[in-house]
Amino acid sequence: MSVPLFASSLDRYLPRLTDRIADVVQEGRYILGPEVQAFESEFASYLGARHCIGVANGTDALAIALRALGVEPGDEVVLPSYTFYATAEAAADIGAVPVFCDVDPHTFCVTAETVRAAMTPRTKAVIAVHLFGNVAPMAELRELGVPVLEDSAQAAGAKLDGGMAGALGDAATFSFFPSKNLPCLGDGGAVVTNDDEVAKLARRLRFHGSDDKQTFVEVGYNSRLDEIQAAALRVLLPELDGWNAARREAAASYERQGLGGHVSLPEPVDGAEHVFHLYMARHERAEELVGTLNAAGVGARTYYRVPAHRQPAMARFATETPDLPGTEEAARTGLALPMGTQLTDEAVAEVVAACASGST
Ligand SMILES: Cc1ncc(COP(=O)(O)O)c(C=O)c1O
Repeated sequence: MSVPLFASSLDRYLPRLTDRIADVVQEGRYILGPEVQAFESEFASYLGARHCIGVANGTDALAIALRALGVEPGDEVVLPSYTFYATAEAAADIGAVPVFCDVDPHTFCVTAETVRAAMTPRTKAVIAVHLFGNVAPMAELRELGVPVLEDSAQAAGAKLDGGMAGALGDAATFSFFPSKNLPCLGDGGAVVTNDDEVAKLARRLRFHGSDDKQTFVEVGYNSRLDEIQAAALRVLLPELDGWNAARREAAASYERQGLGGHVSLPEPVDGAEHVFHLYMARHERAEELVGTLNAAGVGARTYYRVPAHRQPAMARFATETPDLPGTEEAARTGLALPMGTQLTDEAVAEVVAACASGST
């Protein structure tokens, strides 16, 4: 039996998705229409936030949110190096200076200490990435005295001390890329905030810097969530909590079946309800173990093995980056094992057995 890395499928939602897409086509409105408006209000209310602004993808969401928070060219933005590259790219894209900080190699998230070590008087914002479905320690981060943007691309539906990831900072961004916990059928993203002014600016920036489509007051973006994606998201949002519960059950099954005897298990941040976008275990010989698992038909892979500050395009921002030992450890030891909304106990047993024979 082979076990895929991403054990989720939208098959059973196909009839509802196609019906809703047919409605959109019949309606004939494809951009910034009623579906986007309804999704924005449903997702904001799911998160307990005041505003949601649908945009074209999670990378644009970051750039737009940073600008809406007042980050300007030359300002420093502290962000983890151990993240998907887009987190750093968005800061550089708006002319800001990404300043790379370390992560806790057990949670894969930044801490107040790692962020503080990278802050200078020029720090204008911090990006807290809720990596792999874990949630960064937001209360401590907010005490640092600069705006905190949550990169929640991998953490739709996660919670920290009962509050929803995405409603814990000054603003948050989401990606609805198809592999994400809340997927759409292509690219999609959102900016979320409780701040009326930030929301107004983000809304303006997604439409070419204009509030009324007549006067253009900023150089903005053409970055809109489209009606078909919003319609799909409205079908799928009500499933999110159930899907995340299934992911947590799969994680519990890994524990019950003894995976912890062969690899180090994921560690939720204190108070976090992890949603296991990826099931990132740790092992001293992660890359070798991935090879053995793949040969046994088990989907597994390393992530961010070359962290953002060591990517060629970031070289000019990384000349003064100090050693980041947590980042190097996370990059060296992290390996993703199969996870998803449809991972059975039998599949988990298969993965655990493959880890047992590959990890000794
Ligand atoms: C942590 C993180 N930030 C940002 C992004 C960018 O999202 P998108 O691919 O929708 O542009 C991703 C997506 O993979 C991500 O995982």
